[in-house]
Amino acid sequence: SSHKYTMVTCTAPVNIAVIKYWGKRDEDLILPVNSSLSVTLHQDQLKTTTTVACCRDFVEDRLWLNGKEEDINQPRLQSCLREIRRLARKRRSDKDSTVDVSGLSYKVHICSNNNFPTAAGLASSAAGYACLVYTLARLFGVEGELSCVARQGSGSACRSMYGGFVQWKMGEREDGKDSLADQVEPETHWPELRVLVLVVSAERKPVGSTSGMQTSVETSSLLKYRADSVVPGRMDEMTSAIRRKDFAAFAELTMKDSNQFHATCLDTYPPIFYLNDVSRRVINLVHRYNRHYGETRVAYTFDAGPNAVIYTLQDHVSEFVQVVCHFFPMESNRGKFLQGLPVASTTVS
Ligand code: PMV
Repeated sequence: SSHKYTMVTCTAPVNIAVIKYWGKRDEDLILPVNSSLSVTLHQDQLKTTTTVACCRDFVEDRLWLNGKEEDINQPRLQSCLREIRRLARKRRSDKDSTVDVSGLSYKVHICSNNNFPTAAGLASSAAGYACLVYTLARLFGVEGELSCVARQGSGSACRSMYGGFVQWKMGEREDGKDSLADQVEPETHWPELRVLVLVVSAERKPVGSTSGMQTSVETSSLLKYRADSVVPGRMDEMTSAIRRKDFAAFAELTMKDSNQFHATCLDTYPPIFYLNDVSRRVINLVHRYNRHYGETRVAYTFDAGPNAVIYTLQDHVSEFVQVVCHFFPMESNRGKFLQGLPVASTTVS
């Protein structure tokens, strides 16, 4: 091609919720029925890398996910593209944007890669949409609040726009302008905190979060109770536990909230099962381990899949990994451990 193109590459990390988001009050804008809170992981282990190129010669927007071309016309993807272009147009007069004014009408080619299993309940959509939105924003010279755009790709993605401890406030408005993520504490706040991912299965989950949430909102009375009467108090307690670096309080709330989320799945009709026998054995092991020491040293949490995410403190990592290896020899879990530190926010490479 004779015309030059502009290209930007960024990476975005995965986040793991300790107060779970489950249920939408608005499907199109992706507005949740409850607030949520998560820890954004360090980018060493679990991350998405996205390159976006734009060029006068491109005839259509296109997307490749892990090397395979995907349908660009998915509504969520279109929302993100539309929103970023709208924000870019608003900034039209700004001279220091990467793409000149005429470039705004150019089509983009997006190439996105995860270094971990996609759609296995490992928050791949969170890192994926956060990365897409951030990369597009850099390309088109858009700055400022972007969690609102990432949210419209995948709800949990808004939390990956910040590092450290991040809350997504559900907001009250119908237009969603106040349904945003913000940082509770930075990545440097609690350096002893560690995250282990126990890969129970790398297979695609049978029920995706979108349809799962939909059925839960329609059928589960526990979901309503949880959203109205449990999560608001837990958000405050969790924020305070994090600020105080009170691991026992943080861990207990994390486990209880994961359990209530999966109870909500079970209360959904027909029920949704994300946990399997191995997941339940991990849960039992964690409780036995904590009981053995007479203190809460380790916490588990599970998203929309059977893989366990473990929160613990630096001092207990090697012992707990040994215990897991003893009870889950490698053949049976066909997995590996990924160790991550909760640091680093979205950065540009
Ligand atoms: O952002 P989604 O639509 O993939 O939903 C994520 C839901 C959970 O991972 C189960 C909970 C959470 O808060 O991340």
